[in-house]
Amino acid sequence: MSGDSFDFTSLLPAGLPPPAQRWTGRPKYDFTGGNNDADSLPLEGLMAAADAVLRREGRTLATYGLNSGPQGYRPLREFLAAKLKADAGIACAADDILITSGSLQALDLVNGTLLERGDTVILEEDCYQGSINRLTRLGVTPVGIPLDRDGMRVDALAAALDDLKRRSIRPKYIYTIPTVQNPTGTVLPVERRREMLALSAAHGVPIFEDDCYCDLIWSGSRPPAIYALGEQGGVIHIGSFSKSIAPALRVGYIVAPWNVMSRLLPLKTDAGSGALEQMVLAEYCAGNFSRHVPMLRKSLRAKLVTLMESLKEHFGDAAEFDDPKGGIFLWVKLPDGVDAMKLFLPARAAGVVINPGPEWSVNKARSRSRMRLCFASLSHEEIHQGVAALAEVCRREFGVPA
Ligand SMILES: Cc1ncc(COP(=O)(O)O)c(C=O)c1O
Repeated sequence: MSGDSFDFTSLLPAGLPPPAQRWTGRPKYDFTGGNNDADSLPLEGLMAAADAVLRREGRTLATYGLNSGPQGYRPLREFLAAKLKADAGIACAADDILITSGSLQALDLVNGTLLERGDTVILEEDCYQGSINRLTRLGVTPVGIPLDRDGMRVDALAAALDDLKRRSIRPKYIYTIPTVQNPTGTVLPVERRREMLALSAAHGVPIFEDDCYCDLIWSGSRPPAIYALGEQGGVIHIGSFSKSIAPALRVGYIVAPWNVMSRLLPLKTDAGSGALEQMVLAEYCAGNFSRHVPMLRKSLRAKLVTLMESLKEHFGDAAEFDDPKGGIFLWVKLPDGVDAMKLFLPARAAGVVINPGPEWSVNKARSRSRMRLCFASLSHEEIHQGVAALAEVCRREFGVPA
């Protein structure tokens, strides 16, 4: 029996997203998504950690939330509190942290706490698709702020806040990915972080800081988090283990003061995120995180160099990009005649999958001929071959590269 004979269509509520397509496997050259480098996974370390932590305290799995309460496994929160202090300058305690099922759940919880249909939020013009799509689905208006090589332009932010104020609109938050931005790979300098905080305080608009890629900054030394610089509060900070360890683990976190945390917690109705992942991560990270991440960065940086060289070789001057300050993506500008949305299908038919720019931007016109390429999960050889195949399709469809 197929199980498809009952017609659910008339029962579906209005406003559902379009139906999903069945998964048909990964394409040969997959430059999409935020997948990580399989060769850099610390598998031996994770296995040893799983063995040690389960032998020591596996019996706590019999209790919802282990013995740590609704905010997540306490040793993981303690690891994070120490790491956030050392790396990002955030002075928080384990009780200021909520472990979530990936930072996507963190986005949902913060949005669920603050947003309602008809609201306005501010965000970087080119931005994470998962954040843009959530706003669209919630009926929230995104106001995009252009970026330059140093991330969000705070002069443009000030102008947008003034303009909204003139129209009696108070945005619900300023969403930013300040440390290795997705997709541009920019890092917001500390002075701009302070200016953003001053604007946030002057307009009474909180900052929602998404630090998903902060560990992958090539220099190894990141600016202080906006959360750390905000003396008046008014900042919510989220992060993830997806990019520093592995995305399939689905472990992220929120740092927030209690007046926000106490409103987020009732919305986390899944009775806690997966306990095994939290236990294994805490056990592994305590002794190994600071050794693992530089090795991962080195391997990612080498793949980025291969990607940039391959683009130069196969696209020549037709592919323009800035060398990102870290991360797993390259944000590429093709000549104006190329419509990245129209490049997608023929490229996929040739086994190459890309993220077209307009899906990663609120400025559809300006991002029309852009694409985002993830370089983390392909081998060096696959990156090279994939770019060659993409150039061939692009030449056939748009006459570019000449
Ligand atoms: C900026 C940003 N935030 C959040 C996420 C969600 O990541 P995860 O749910 O795996 O932690 C991603 C994933 O790519 C991202 O790029």
